[in-house]
Amino acid sequence: MAGTPLVLDNGSGSVKVGYAGQQEPQVVYDNMYTAVRSSRHEPSKATSEALEKSNARLHVMDHGIVSQWEGLVEVFKAALDEMKVVDPSQHPCLVTEAPLNPTVHRELLVEKLFEELRVPAVQVVHSGALALYAINRRTGLVIEVGDGVAQTVPLFDSYVVFNAVQRRDFGGRDLTAYLGELLQKELGYKEALADEVWWTQLQTVKERMCRVTPQASPSRISRQDPVQQEYKLPDGKVLDWEQGLLSQCAEALFQPGQHLKLDEEAEGIHKMAASSVLGCGLDIQKSLANNVVLSGGSTLFPGMCQRVQEELQRLLPSAVKAKVTRVSKPTYAAFMGGSILASMSDLQKTFMTRGEYLEYGASFIHNKSVSLTKPHMMS
Ligand SMILES: Nc1ncnc2c1ncn2[C@@H]1O[C@H](COP(=O)(O)OP(=O)(O)OP(=O)(O)O)[C@@H](O)[C@H]1O
Ligand SMILES: [Mg+2]
Repeated sequence: MAGTPLVLDNGSGSVKVGYAGQQEPQVVYDNMYTAVRSSRHEPSKATSEALEKSNARLHVMDHGIVSQWEGLVEVFKAALDEMKVVDPSQHPCLVTEAPLNPTVHRELLVEKLFEELRVPAVQVVHSGALALYAINRRTGLVIEVGDGVAQTVPLFDSYVVFNAVQRRDFGGRDLTAYLGELLQKELGYKEALADEVWWTQLQTVKERMCRVTPQASPSRISRQDPVQQEYKLPDGKVLDWEQGLLSQCAEALFQPGQHLKLDEEAEGIHKMAASSVLGCGLDIQKSLANNVVLSGGSTLFPGMCQRVQEELQRLLPSAVKAKVTRVSKPTYAAFMGGSILASMSDLQKTFMTRGEYLEYGASFIHNKSVSLTKPHMMS
């Protein structure tokens, strides 16, 4: 294969792109695009307004699933342009996908990469498992919560234990929306979530001020955390932690069924993690529980490691001790793991080639899936 492989971590919120071997993505691109719709007639004032609205930026991904394929191609091309990739046909491409997506989704992804970006070879891997590679561990449980997907992925000796993987469709975007609802309900804000300026405000408040409280002694952290204590909204109103409202936002990660637009039974990340550990063989449960790693931007809330550890421990037998840490750069961990993997010559041999695509079609990618990855590759 020709040039250095490209790594595309295709997240619901942003695409992280770079070359194999790079420590961090070279380009981080919002996974949004503007669908320009043309009208054959001179638009009236009403239709101009409607057009303006319809030309608003759209999310390319909806909870780990591409909802705008045209937009995906546009975003990938723009990101590669920004990276100054002159000729994508020279670079095999490792792309991430959320676990448990429909198989046809993976096929469409492969098709777009071969047809529209003209890459010479493709491999698709699940994002969650990659965080463990990023920190050079081979056994552990990854809890990844990004912008649209929450997933728990157990790996033993570099093998993903697929039947114990858990995935739910919630993430940081849902938390931002929930914060908007809380502000509406408790402080009377009427702004629509579709208003980009308001959305950006909400996201900033969430990222700077919200935190997770420990179960054991919720009052303990209120003044000591490094998070911002106050935030002034555009109308001059000041939000502060003591109002209590901000403590509710990240709570939704533990009770998504009650707070987010999901079915009531939807389990929080601690229950997903416990199901993943207990879904594995008794012989490896201790190693997994002792190596729980948080990844994805929505695990950045202060207090997360402690709270997840407490909640998880409660759900596990007492002999199985939970120890939870977070990777140092949670939003980049999947890219970093992908970058390490794509540098391995053995992994490169597993890429689906353009020749295979032309001969067998996109569904051939399922014959190419790796178990992330076989132990002999690690030596
Ligand atoms: N300091 C922070 N505190 C809380 N949330 C944060 C923080 N920084 C970023 N986030 C949230 O993390 C999310 C983005 O994370 P990430 O880049 O891992 O997701 P993604 O890869 O785009 O999506 P996914 O993997 O779910 O498809 C956004 O919702 C963002 O608001
Ligand atoms: Mg992600």
